[in-house]
Amino acid sequence: MTFNPIEVRKDFPIFTRTIRDGKRLVYLDSGATAQKPQSVIDAEVDFYRLHNAAAHRGAHQLAEEATDLFEGARAKVAAFIGAAVDEVVFTKSATESLNLVAYAMGNAPVGNRFHLSTGDEIVVSQMEHHANLIPWQQLAARTGAVLRWFDVTPEGRLDLSQIPQLITDRTKVVALTHQSNVLGTINPLSEIVAAAHAVGAVVVLDACQSVPHMKVDVTELDIDFLAFSGHKTVGPTGVGVMWGRSALLEELPPFLTGGSMIADVSMTTATWAPAPAKFEAGVPNMAQAIGLGAAVDYLSAIGMDVIAQHEHALTQDLLAKLLDINEVAVVGPLNMGNRGGAISFTVAGIHPHDLGQFLDSQGIAVRTGHHCAWPLTRSLGVPATTRASLYLYNSVEDNDALIDGVKSAMRYFK
Ligand code: ALA
Repeated sequence: MTFNPIEVRKDFPIFTRTIRDGKRLVYLDSGATAQKPQSVIDAEVDFYRLHNAAAHRGAHQLAEEATDLFEGARAKVAAFIGAAVDEVVFTKSATESLNLVAYAMGNAPVGNRFHLSTGDEIVVSQMEHHANLIPWQQLAARTGAVLRWFDVTPEGRLDLSQIPQLITDRTKVVALTHQSNVLGTINPLSEIVAAAHAVGAVVVLDACQSVPHMKVDVTELDIDFLAFSGHKTVGPTGVGVMWGRSALLEELPPFLTGGSMIADVSMTTATWAPAPAKFEAGVPNMAQAIGLGAAVDYLSAIGMDVIAQHEHALTQDLLAKLLDINEVAVVGPLNMGNRGGAISFTVAGIHPHDLGQFLDSQGIAVRTGHHCAWPLTRSLGVPATTRASLYLYNSVEDNDALIDGVKSAMRYFK
């Protein structure tokens, strides 16, 4: 059957409502958070209505059901990203996932492969979201390691010519975004991963903007850690994923300590359970993880390749229409090679916040500002941008509504 975003919208209850006095909701802010299909909402509600108990605890039927549903969600997520089940750690968010890896590395004792000290280097890029920048800044500050970064070219691509000077035998970690939440750039990873592994460094991928939008297979990418969030993947808020290679998870010290993550405890010492339990202290976010399981079921039933193809066509259409307006400048790649559906732009003479407010009055939801990527925004030489981010429920009519909205704003603010 042909993919039809207007049919897809029927699965998402939010599109039955109107916005700003009866206008159709044109939701172009899925880069910030995606809308939820009914099946995800049902999965979360059904858990609370029918199965609520603490997973991995309790000698009763409900606890067994909660455990089975929670672990079932882990298996679904693992299959979705090409991972082994025990390599998937549920966190509260992608931000927590990235902090988990950075904090755990900071806890690594001398002799552990993750131990960092003066002279070691951590490599990031100038296009990182704050969630994949600040944890590494902090780790560097705590350990004496040095933070280095890839610059971004005027076309909005990583400057790969810097690989030999950036990735050296001092490099311990390379932490990069897979797809920029501002530029839409999809970073080519193979050369960077090969260079990192050649010097024994681990590669951490922030996949928040890629996992929801295309097939991401951790084995094919040959990376070491990956983080993504549930809520951008049509799943609930309050759940994120940290995936790590099992041999690495074995060596990585825990981040949070407490119940469920232990093998044995005395009054003065404790030993750790194997992963993923080692990284999931406390009663887990069961309803949210189960909701995420339903989300990956939903996306998989449509097919990630179908979703990626749809977004590719839609992005091409919107880019062409935006570039047709003389006053519009798009920041980020103007061609469709290795490019996803986040399009940031400025309109001459209109501040992005004014534009965002004007579009909102037309029922069009976009994000404006620095998009939690301040160093990138500064390097682009703009105070802020307006960002439209596309997803499976968007259509050409949404693109046209945005273009009409931008043109109306240009008349209004003239
Ligand atoms: N990181 C999300 C965004 O780019 C919130 O909007």
